[in-house]
Amino acid sequence: MIENQFFSSDFKLGILGGGQLGKMLLYDSIRYDIYTKIMDPNKNAPCHKICDEFIVGDLTDYDHVVNFCKDVDVVTVEIENVNTDALEFLEKNGKKVYPSSKTLKTIQNKSKQKDFYIKNNLPTSPYKNYQNKSELISDLNKGYFEFPSVWKSAKFGYDGKGVKIVKTLEDIKNLPDLECLMEQKVKIKKEVSVIVARNPNEDETCFPIVEMEFNDDSNLVEYVICPANISKELEEKAYNIALQTARCFNSIGLLAVELFITENDEILINEVAPRPHNSGHHTIECCFTSQFDQHIRSILNLPLGNTDLKIPGIMLNLVGENKIEGHVKYENIDKILDIPGVSAHFYGKKKSRLNRKMGHITVVNTVIEEALKIGKNIKKIVKVTA
Ligand SMILES: Nc1ncnc2c1ncn2[C@@H]1O[C@H](COP(=O)(O)OP(=O)(O)O)[C@@H](O)[C@H]1O
Ligand SMILES: [Mg+2]
Repeated sequence: MIENQFFSSDFKLGILGGGQLGKMLLYDSIRYDIYTKIMDPNKNAPCHKICDEFIVGDLTDYDHVVNFCKDVDVVTVEIENVNTDALEFLEKNGKKVYPSSKTLKTIQNKSKQKDFYIKNNLPTSPYKNYQNKSELISDLNKGYFEFPSVWKSAKFGYDGKGVKIVKTLEDIKNLPDLECLMEQKVKIKKEVSVIVARNPNEDETCFPIVEMEFNDDSNLVEYVICPANISKELEEKAYNIALQTARCFNSIGLLAVELFITENDEILINEVAPRPHNSGHHTIECCFTSQFDQHIRSILNLPLGNTDLKIPGIMLNLVGENKIEGHVKYENIDKILDIPGVSAHFYGKKKSRLNRKMGHITVVNTVIEEALKIGKNIKKIVKVTA
């Protein structure tokens, strides 16, 4: 009866990060009556009121992470940018950490992540790594890459401006001097995502493949559409690649695999995230088991839930439209809540600013085109301002 270890017991689940992904994990931990302890640098983070214990701390600080984890039984993350040396130390001392420090280390650096795909024979676009800008310019002078190419900062935290399409020499000159990579610009037909879940028992499931439509200005996901409008053959190929990727990482918990479908119907891995993902929010309303429920089941080695679609749906992010930060105002929500199939989620962030993710809306409908039509209309009506 291992189940009794978790529910209404002394068991403690530790979550690094207290943002909206953490908050949605709590929807399910509360349903299961699992005790949760969360750390986030922001004392008002979306999870602060809802978890059992909330600690203010620096997720990238070794001591903060080690101390936070001391009395928890299983550690997970809702953000990748955490101190992996601390997690490695904890693993060596027998703590269960999912995703593993090794996976997080690989993922935290886009160059290492690409190298991992090549090493494991997983399909990804051609690229080259550079320690700094002068190495990159030297290669450019040798004619090693052509315009346009895609420049990426290897590490996180560069003002959210870690990806740039470079078209001219001038663009290169304007890039920051950072460890980086240049990728061949893929001729993308569609961007899709598959979220895989695996537990220590090596049971595995995939959530139905979704299509992502991006906003051209902000580069944020504007609509997630489920199921993706692609052939059965491509769909099967995408599930196979996503599963293979998760197995190569020895992934426990969720692994969201972002894929490009090229104009020639090739499938390439763009990047992965070992946690709940923006491309899986609709699973709360659309699937028999949500990605958040599945993550908890996976890391506790419980049986995985059925991921079949109950009903097709779309998700749209509600992002701040105000240039100057201020107290958030959601306008015209009253005009959309009575539309059949509409669910609104507000993350509980008090301050809105330009492109900050403040909430999302899911629209379900037996006809996916209808859901998208309603979603696009909602986008015009609802305003997130300050
Ligand atoms: N090699 C590429 N070719 C064409 N477009 C790309 C390429 N790499 C990234 N992009 C575009 O940029 C977006 C963001 O890139 P990604 O590596 O996923 O960074 P982020 O960490 O910001 O999500 C992708 O979703 C895609 O639209
Ligand atoms: Mg991405």
